Amino acid sequence: KILILDFGSQVTQLIARRVREAHVYCEIHPNDVSEDFIRSFGPKGIILSGSHASTYEEEDLRAPQAVWASGVPVLGICYGMQTMAAQLGGTVESGQTREFGYAEVRAHGHTKLLDGIQDFATPEGQGMLKVWMSHGDKVTALPPGFKLMASTPSCPIAGMADEARGYYAVQFHPEVTHTVQGRALLERFVLQIAGAKPDWVMRDHIEEAVQRIREQVGSEEVILGLSGGVDSSVAAALIHRAIGDQLTCVFVDHGLLRLNEGQMVMDMFVGRLHAKVIHVDASEQFLGHLKGVSDPEAKRKIIGREFVEVFQAEAKKLQNAKWLAQGTIYPDVIESGGAKTKKATTIKSHHNVGGLPETLGLKLLEPLRDLFKDEVRELGVALGLPPEMVYRHPFPGPGLGVRILGEVKREYAELLRRADAIFIEELRNFRDEATGKTWYELTSQAFAVFLPVKSVGVMGDGRTYDYVVALRAVQTSDFMTADWAELPYALLKKVSGRIINEVRGINRVAYDVSSKPPATIEWE
Ligand code: XMP
Repeated sequence: KILILDFGSQVTQLIARRVREAHVYCEIHPNDVSEDFIRSFGPKGIILSGSHASTYEEEDLRAPQAVWASGVPVLGICYGMQTMAAQLGGTVESGQTREFGYAEVRAHGHTKLLDGIQDFATPEGQGMLKVWMSHGDKVTALPPGFKLMASTPSCPIAGMADEARGYYAVQFHPEVTHTVQGRALLERFVLQIAGAKPDWVMRDHIEEAVQRIREQVGSEEVILGLSGGVDSSVAAALIHRAIGDQLTCVFVDHGLLRLNEGQMVMDMFVGRLHAKVIHVDASEQFLGHLKGVSDPEAKRKIIGREFVEVFQAEAKKLQNAKWLAQGTIYPDVIESGGAKTKKATTIKSHHNVGGLPETLGLKLLEPLRDLFKDEVRELGVALGLPPEMVYRHPFPGPGLGVRILGEVKREYAELLRRADAIFIEELRNFRDEATGKTWYELTSQAFAVFLPVKSVGVMGDGRTYDYVVALRAVQTSDFMTADWAELPYALLKKVSGRIINEVRGINRVAYDVSSKPPATIEWE
């Protein structure tokens, strides 16, 4: 196993993720863990993360002496390199300018870490790496025993190694995907240099997570708000695996879910997993409060508030519950300021089950906090959840509430649900010949939007005067920017034909060809 010491970088979790990708077990601990801890942990190798700090400003931000005494290979990344240099007798100087972004690094000499790993070679045959840099300080003199491993024009010591002791360090960030060979490099350190065994699989993660949950909650009871989305579903399945009936899920149906969604969730969790689920049909209450409200933010606030209220009322009935479980995943932790990023102006307020623990006096249980989305999906499959559930497109908390423009009415929701179900069904039916994938898989998010305007149509001998739906399908990797998907005409034709024929009340279908920005993915 590998020990990662965290000096407070925003991307430390990415290091762990890359190590897991190499099928090696690892744990992240704060840089100031005790010497005893390091000895008893018994790592095969240690990785020192980056930091937002400077080696000058924070003298106490050092690796414990036990790291150097452990006799195992150590890899320092960014700040980790600087503290390695500073602690082992080299020199670190504060840079006048910050170096940030893309850089090309030149490899020097032969090292176990970089040999054979390169993006291109110089005319003289020296290996070059395309990397991502983010630092102010830099190492200006090698510690005794070290040799130069890499350089850039602005950072003459961008990598150093003392191969006799197994110490390696790089100023750039191998854990981010912008460093093209980063994954190969970390894998090289973990497998070849540290000699860790690549025997860690998702099943082991389940075992570890189950143990941790059992230790954390003991015999106490846990409640969880199940939404039907990927994260809360995987969290529920995992916690249920750990503590069975000590878990009660509360599934709040606000009347703004997709077609048959409630039934699907119940079939899965009650029918197949035999979990305890309280299904609350609160659609009357939600729709009642939404009556007459057409402003998107006001609608979101009402839905969020009502959700908290309904959930809280259920939670109060479960008097023995001591824990609130949430499907928080690592990107949520970053987004909510856990990684000190200042959020720009709110374009849309996103509601989650925020604010619950304080008011309910419950302890938080977040077993997915360290995982990335694709790892959560992999975990879900390993737990036996159906791939259709685990590989679903994201669905916003306020649901159809923000996909019915303006005032939300039950009648609109019913029309929209049926149109949306047809669209999704056909996206799953149509396959792209070149890739063999369905269009559901080829899009990141797809849905129908209800437009409360009427247009004229003709059906049989009669004139119709009915509502319009717009179809939206986007491709994106991070949902911050998105392109509209170039769906095949045959698919669009099938969907529009089916919606207009099967959903009485809708006589026109439009396809949204706006990218984000300047449009957003949702219409509200
Ligand atoms: P936009 O429309 O902002 O959407 O481009 C980006 C992503 O966020 C989702 N979204 C929401 N999710 N509550 C949520 O839980 C919300 O209020 C909300 N609004 C947008 C949207 O579906 C897309 O995936």
